[in-house]
Amino acid sequence: MSRILITGTGLFTPPDSVTNAELVASLGAANEKWNAENRAEIERGDLEERDMPSEKFILRASGIGHRYMMDKKGVLDPDRLRPRLPLRGEDELSLQAEICMAAAQEALTQAGREGADVDAVIVGCSNLQRAYPAVAIEVQDALGAGGFAYDMNVACSSATFAIQNAVDALRSGSARCVLVLNPEITSGHNNFALREFHFIFGDACTAVVLESEEDAGQGESWEVLGTRLATKFSNHIRNDAGYLNRSEDGERDPFDLVFRQHGRQVFKEVCPMVAEHIRSHLEDSGIAVEELKRLWLHQANLGMNQSISKRLLGRDPAPEEAPVILDEYGNTSSAGSIIAFHKCREGLSEGDLAVLCSFGAGYSMGSVILRKRAD
Ligand code: COA
Repeated sequence: MSRILITGTGLFTPPDSVTNAELVASLGAANEKWNAENRAEIERGDLEERDMPSEKFILRASGIGHRYMMDKKGVLDPDRLRPRLPLRGEDELSLQAEICMAAAQEALTQAGREGADVDAVIVGCSNLQRAYPAVAIEVQDALGAGGFAYDMNVACSSATFAIQNAVDALRSGSARCVLVLNPEITSGHNNFALREFHFIFGDACTAVVLESEEDAGQGESWEVLGTRLATKFSNHIRNDAGYLNRSEDGERDPFDLVFRQHGRQVFKEVCPMVAEHIRSHLEDSGIAVEELKRLWLHQANLGMNQSISKRLLGRDPAPEEAPVILDEYGNTSSAGSIIAFHKCREGLSEGDLAVLCSFGAGYSMGSVILRKRAD
């Protein structure tokens, strides 16, 4: 069976940098205004006063210190609390396609490839900006790529699920050079009006190029030793935005149409599942946990990553063993584990083993076992 390699990765980081202090100031102002406007109902007990956010809480509870966004002005405006994204015409590149192009160029350059070499484009992310045509097909066109392209959504696990699809396509011979893209404009789905959620997400886009060994060029590459996906239904992370909203009969809370979660339950339920998922994937692949040199985990919460690493390794990981990019990027949904892989893979040698792993809404989990090849 032909070996499948990751030959390039790319990252687009949005221009706007947003600190916890900025988010806390804007939500604080919005809450004060909301509480004043609803004073009578709050005093009657019909509404609950909105509590103030705290920088200290955010850093301690999540490990997130900062994130990037496509438009901070709109998000930080207490009267708006969502990005301001100018509508584009049909002849212009859409926003998600645009950030895909930036990440794709870096990944293709690293792989020594051009757009025309690509014959499959898979866009995997938590939220797609339109129903159709697929963003992936728009990117395929803009790159001058051939073959086929499609969008898919498995929330925060979209990247690893797309990587498995890419591996399957390369193994079956339906593609020879696959580009996986994760354009996460999470600021469009986040709820910046509630302190439970306003700090969680950041925007980014990642790209991964996959090819068969015989087609790959020289340079750094990572052999995919195996992929494993798993899902288990849960309502603890949910967003009901969808095409049926405008036809639904009945009252909906507007906060149903953006991200929401029961963070505590997610934390409690997902950590053991993910640790066991990786452990059994390694065991079935004949790899001892002790052989692992690096863990590129999904980046949602520092405590979750520490808990998963500790359950798996049986000890606290050294910082370089399980890199964290949460402090700078926040939770970038499916892009998170790929950003960690893209930015934190120095110091590894040929033959070293590592795992890339995502987890999130669904619940969904995906692991990819990688072995470093030449530099
Ligand atoms: N500032 C100040 N206080 C805040 C706050 C903020 N920004 N956000 C929440 N709080 C408050 C809560 O209202 C709650 O107050 P109460 O005790 O008066 O009700 C208190 O802090 C504890 O909130 P809780 O939600 O239980 O905190 P937590 O320790 O569970 O941390 C998360 C919250 C979201 C950081 C954490 O649960 C988490 O990250 N879970 C995993 C979620 C995840 O990874 N999801 C996957 C998405 S892909």
